[in-house]
Amino acid sequence: MAKVLIIYHSQSGNTEKMAEAVKEGAASAGATVTLKKAADANADDMLDCDAVIMGTASYFGYEAGMIKDFFDRTFYALREKVANKPYATFGSYGGGGEVAIESLDKLCDRLGLKKATESVGALREPSSEALEKCKALGAKMALA
Ligand SMILES: Cc1cc2nc3c(=O)[nH]c(=O)nc-3n(C[C@H](O)[C@H](O)[C@H](O)COP(=O)(O)O)c2cc1C
Repeated sequence: MAKVLIIYHSQSGNTEKMAEAVKEGAASAGATVTLKKAADANADDMLDCDAVIMGTASYFGYEAGMIKDFFDRTFYALREKVANKPYATFGSYGGGGEVAIESLDKLCDRLGLKKATESVGALREPSSEALEKCKALGAKMALA
């Protein structure tokens, strides 16, 4: 059974709703899912999973500071140990588009993770359609 890790940061709940939908999708596809806020996640979480899914709100055109903090804290412990591990990203934004998710993709890339599927973005509170895409993302990553 695949172990899927979801790490996210959300201030006003929009990205959190997406994270819950991703979790539901991965679990329904048979994965063992761990859902963690970025502030509570550490290097061991990332080492102990088969696939990682990261979610962020967009703040000032970048990923949330707590997501960046996760990479800052764990980089030395993870580099070269998670090369080619499959990852996916999702997030909510307020009108600036998906640049924050793209910035998050760059951090994942620096760690050597391998993007396994397209990102899912949502404008502010995720629509039911966006939540369905999050579920599909989770299900796909359970098989990655
Ligand atoms: C401090 C701050 C900065 C923000 N900067 C941006 C931005 O640069 N681009 C954008 O599209 N949305 C921006 N937003 C809007 C949030 O990304 C949007 O409200 C999102 O849905 C918040 O997700 P959350 O509920 O998971 O925190 C900003 C919000 C805050 C609070």
